[in-house]
Amino acid sequence: MTEVVVVKNKAQASRIVSDLLVKSILKNPKLVLGLATGSTPLEVYKMLASSVKKQGIDVSGVRGFALDEYVALPKGHHESYHFVINSTVVQPIGLTPENAHVPSGDASTIQRAGAEYEELIKASGGVDVQILGIGTDGHIGFNEPGSSLASRTRIKTLTEQTRLNNAQFFSSIDEVPSHAITQGIGTILEARHLVLMAFGSAKAKAVANTLEGPVCAFCPASALQLHPHATVFVDQDAATELQNIDYYKWSYENKPSWQEL
Ligand code: F6R
Repeated sequence: MTEVVVVKNKAQASRIVSDLLVKSILKNPKLVLGLATGSTPLEVYKMLASSVKKQGIDVSGVRGFALDEYVALPKGHHESYHFVINSTVVQPIGLTPENAHVPSGDASTIQRAGAEYEELIKASGGVDVQILGIGTDGHIGFNEPGSSLASRTRIKTLTEQTRLNNAQFFSSIDEVPSHAITQGIGTILEARHLVLMAFGSAKAKAVANTLEGPVCAFCPASALQLHPHATVFVDQDAATELQNIDYYKWSYENKPSWQEL
């Protein structure tokens, strides 16, 4: 089932998710983390880095798998997800660099990169906790509307909207790559626990379609409804189009202590 948690703000959600990750790492020092990039999870990564330092937690065995990467953007480019995962996750948290994986966006090997990445994830034993953001069009990873709900890691053409949204990180939209390699919806659904976060009114429609619309390829995140253990954190602004909001709030506020996140 999908649990919906309506939070006051991003900081509150990031604290809950960071605490969940700390607890999961203490329980399993070889935890396999699924890593989203984008702005949504940055505070979680910062809080996790600070807890790891303060509590002296050993993260040398923790593994990480990024969701996606731009095609044909050099690894050293400041917006390549190789670079971003290294600077926002690996370095601050102190992960072992060899344990952190990002799909290869190298155009010359792109035809086999998806299958190789799937093999790596499988060999790790699978993702334990997958952190997800959501696009304004309902994409997760770079699975744009229309992506097969059974898809595996492969190349996707980015929509104009996604390129426009991501242009804020580049000097102009012309610099935003047109293609990405991304874990498929089928790949993401194999993670044991999905944790999606959405903040701000621009995400409200996508959140409502994800949680209360039909399961359909037009809103790729709606595939979460098929997952046995998904948790969605939304702030008030992202929750404005939810019809069942009172029920979600009541359920969370009255959650029995034996029911874990
Ligand atoms: C990136 C990814 C994307 C983002 C989404 C939201 O790895 O998975 O699906 O999560 O585009 O981006 P932000 O967080 O910047 O709003």
